[in-house]
Formats: sequence, structure tokens, C-alpha cells
Amino acid sequence: MSPFLLTRTLPEDATDAALRADVLHGLGSDPKTLPPKWFYDAHGSELFEKITELPEYYPTRAEREILLARAGEIARATGARTLVELGSGSSEKTRHLLDALTGLRTYVPVDVSESALTQAGEALAAERPGLDVHALIADFTGGLAMPDTPGPRLVAFLGGTIGNLLPAERAAFLTSVRALLSPGDALLLGTDLVKDEGELVAAYDDAAGVTAAFDKNVLSVVNRELGADFDPGAFAHVALWNPEHEWIEMRLRSLAAQTVKIPALGLAVDFAEGEELRTEVSAKFREEGVRGELAAAGLDLTHWWTDEKGRFALSLSTAG
Ligand SMILES: C[S@@+](CC[C@H](N)C(=O)[O-])C[C@H]1O[C@@H](n2cnc3c(N)ncnc32)[C@H](O)[C@@H]1O
Repeated sequence: MSPFLLTRTLPEDATDAALRADVLHGLGSDPKTLPPKWFYDAHGSELFEKITELPEYYPTRAEREILLARAGEIARATGARTLVELGSGSSEKTRHLLDALTGLRTYVPVDVSESALTQAGEALAAERPGLDVHALIADFTGGLAMPDTPGPRLVAFLGGTIGNLLPAERAAFLTSVRALLSPGDALLLGTDLVKDEGELVAAYDDAAGVTAAFDKNVLSVVNRELGADFDPGAFAHVALWNPEHEWIEMRLRSLAAQTVKIPALGLAVDFAEGEELRTEVSAKFREEGVRGELAAAGLDLTHWWTDEKGRFALSLSTAG
């Protein structure tokens, strides 16, 4: 068994302070919002894994198809000795990269979900002798500090998670990733692509209601952590396509006029009947847009691969 190390880069009370600040700011805004990172407690991470298996949720299968076809090329192009994965979750698809990266010494999964990191990290360390697994509990939007590991490094950001950041947040994020890269390092980025509205909406509003449960889980997190009295049953999950921004929005619609108390913040929040709380955006991309956003952060796109149906793209870029 290889070494498995789990490091928290922020003290636990920093997570608590960040949740308080986000809830205070987001529920005080008009329209109301909450950042998607708060979906991912242990239950939210489990629900996300279920989403990846749904017939409607094509992104995981499409990205896996690309990884299976291109992992060898990625390995040859990067020669990576360290793989850093941001928002690694279950690290399931990553296994295809780990299989192909034959010179790899260290895998650094980074996630806010301690349960997902522990489960995935322990399993990988047990399965892959010779691979150091150094997991980091960290917020990838909060300034990244990497352990001192051998280069070249490949930083992977899969699952289309970059689409959960708003455009200004994406620009800041890509600039911070660029700052991590030394000459010879690379970024492997998964981006979901603009496509038929019906297919997109179905992927975020499945017939079995798993995405609805995932969406409402953020209310349970605020209840547990801040003593709030959200009734998840008093909200409906809504997924819609915003053609102006080319993103999917997930929202929770209040089914009645109601007041939610959040004692830890001394707050009472009024919801009108039909009022919506935005819980996630998931931006969809085009090749020119991805190339442009990478270039603005000082990154040169060198490879662009899609699945056969052209639904999802993986790109490789280097520090320009
Ligand atoms: C959409 S899931 C993708 C998981 C996996 N990469 C995949 O492709 O299936 C997003 C992952 O990013 C993590 N995450 C979300 N926001 C984060 C943040 N600000 N910092 C670190 N991890 C975050 C979540 O816990 C979750 O594991």
C-alpha cells in the first residue's frame, strides 16, 4: 500500500466562517443565491455520484469517452510526474489518466468534500503501490498552495466544474492556476459544450429526481451547520437554460410565502410564493470561448478533443 496523506489547508472554523459569509451575503441579495460548493457534504457527494450514473446526465460518460481515447496522448504530451486534480470528488474517471501516466509519482486530489477525498484517496493508495496520494481539503477558488512534488505537473480540472464559476470568478481562477504552473507543466480542462436546450435541461432535471434531491441538499447543509429551519419540501427544484449567458441555472422555488430562521446568523429570511433562490450555474462552452479565456490567463491551448457526439471537450494548455 502506498502512503495516503490528508491535509487540511484551512482550519475547520474557516469553512464555518465562509459558509456564514456566503449565506449572509447570498440570502441578502436580490435575487437570492448560494454558491454551489455547499452542496458537497458527505450526502451531497454521494448524490452527485448517483447523478453521474443517470441516463440523462451525459457529461460524465462523454468525458470518460474522451479520457479513454486520449489518455495515452495526454501522457505523451505532458510526461507528468505529479497529477494535481481540482474538485476531484470520487476520482473515478481519473483512473484512466492514472493508468496512462506511467511516470507518475504523486497524485494530489483537491476538494472541499473530506468524505469524497478520504474514500477515493484511501482506495487509490491501496490499489496503486508506488503512487503517493496526498489529498488536500481546500477551496480551489481560495488561493491554491501545492505540496512540493516532482514536475512536470499536470493540473486536471474535470467534470465541467469550471462552468460553476461565474465569468469573473473563472478569470480569477484560471489566473491562479496559471500561477501554479512552471515551464513544462500543463492544465487539462473539461468543459461541457453548448448544445440542444432539451438535452441540457434534462441533464439537470432527471426523471428520478436525484438532481432535485442534490439541489435541496444545500438547505439541509445550512440547517445542520447554522441551525436554520428550511423545509426542503417547501421548495421545488427548477433547471432552466439561460440563452444570454449560455448557462444552465439550478434554482429552488419557494412553494409558498414563508420565513426561514437562521439562528446562528440572527437572521429571518422572507421568501415570497414563487421566489427563486439560485443554487448553481453551469456554463456551457464553445472552443473559441475556452481558447480566449485560457489566453486571457496566459495559457496556450495546445490540444482540443471532443467525444464523438461533440457534447463535451477536454483541452490541454500550457503556460504561454
Ligand atoms: C461537479 S463535481 C465533479 C467531480 C469530479 N471531478 C467529476 O468529474 O465527476 C464538483 C466537485 O468539486 C468539488 N468542489 C466544488 N466546489 C469546490 C471548491 N470551491 N473547492 C474545492 N472543491 C470544490 C465538489 O466537492 C465536487 O467533488
